[in-house]
Amino acid sequence: MLKAMTATLQLSQLIRPGVLRTPAYPFEPAEVPVKLDQNESPYDFPPELKQIALERLAALPWNRYPDLHADQLRAAIARREGWDPAGVVVTAGSNALIAHLVALLRAGSTVLTVRPNFSLYALDATLLEAELREVPLEPDFSLPFQQLRAELRGSPGLLILTQPHAPTGFLDRPEQVALLIEEASGWITVLDEAYCEFSASDYRSLVAGHPDRVLLRTFSKAWGLAGLRLGYALTAPSTAEQLQKLVPAFNVNALTAAAAGVALEYPEYLTRRVQEATRERERVYNALRHHRSWTVYPSSANFLLVRTPDAAAAAAGLQRAGIRVRRQDRDPMLAGCIRISVGSPAENDTLIAAVSRL
Ligand SMILES: Cc1ncc(COP(=O)(O)O)c(C=O)c1O
Repeated sequence: MLKAMTATLQLSQLIRPGVLRTPAYPFEPAEVPVKLDQNESPYDFPPELKQIALERLAALPWNRYPDLHADQLRAAIARREGWDPAGVVVTAGSNALIAHLVALLRAGSTVLTVRPNFSLYALDATLLEAELREVPLEPDFSLPFQQLRAELRGSPGLLILTQPHAPTGFLDRPEQVALLIEEASGWITVLDEAYCEFSASDYRSLVAGHPDRVLLRTFSKAWGLAGLRLGYALTAPSTAEQLQKLVPAFNVNALTAAAAGVALEYPEYLTRRVQEATRERERVYNALRHHRSWTVYPSSANFLLVRTPDAAAAAAGLQRAGIRVRRQDRDPMLAGCIRISVGSPAENDTLIAAVSRL
């Protein structure tokens, strides 16, 4: 017992303090009939495309390493996005890219973002011992432009913005975001567009031709391929070259690359699904708006943020109805808030019925 304790103590002296300080990624898995907690697509990959992918997977030599940097997949993404393939970096999920971008900075550099926000930015900044600066959002959840501008005059580093924003679903005016980014010269600006398909926003033109700007996108949300783990960065080739060094070799496995390749060859399903998700988002929004004590916020993503009198009670009440949502009440600005992903029409019916009983 004492030996084990001494060993743990010695180990903690070897481990980077940032790692010891950082909490684990906050997520508790649960099996429920209606899963609306992770902003996934409610639908699996279309069966006919899955069949094509499975045939390609079966024909692959599983004993061989995949492409070092998933060149074929990067080329397919580049074609779709109208981007130079040399400026595309792919990883097992865009969350890995967030960590790599923080690690790209010199030790102790600033990571500037807003609060509340997708939790990984702050986690990675703490983990890698960057100087984390989080500016509170405006009360309507728009970006705090004046305060961000003031922060940009400080010691530069990484500016991370999310459009549409998570977990609020708020979409800022592109002209204002563009102005802010213009002012971030000397910084590396990251625009995380994990949910851009649902808002029809597109920051590619703002990033193109600027080595100090990086766009992040993912196959986990609109594409409905969260289980494959695939995300990508679009940036200038010179920045991609440096970022690529941080990505472990052979990071995207051959199975993911082949299956995502099928999605990129047959992307028609994406449009249909995005249309349904945005239609359903508005339907759920309008239904939840009538709740006597809940406030539902307009969203440009595939989820809705809802303020309730008590997030724990709301989440537990929905859980009893077989519906899993995500509590978001950790940040004081989101007291009482839960986040509900937009599900299939049937799942949303179940949700609306359950909410009317709460
Ligand atoms: C804003 C945002 N960025 C990035 C991610 C990470 O996505 P993935 O790692 O699945 O590509 C998420 C996941 O929920 C997200 O909400």
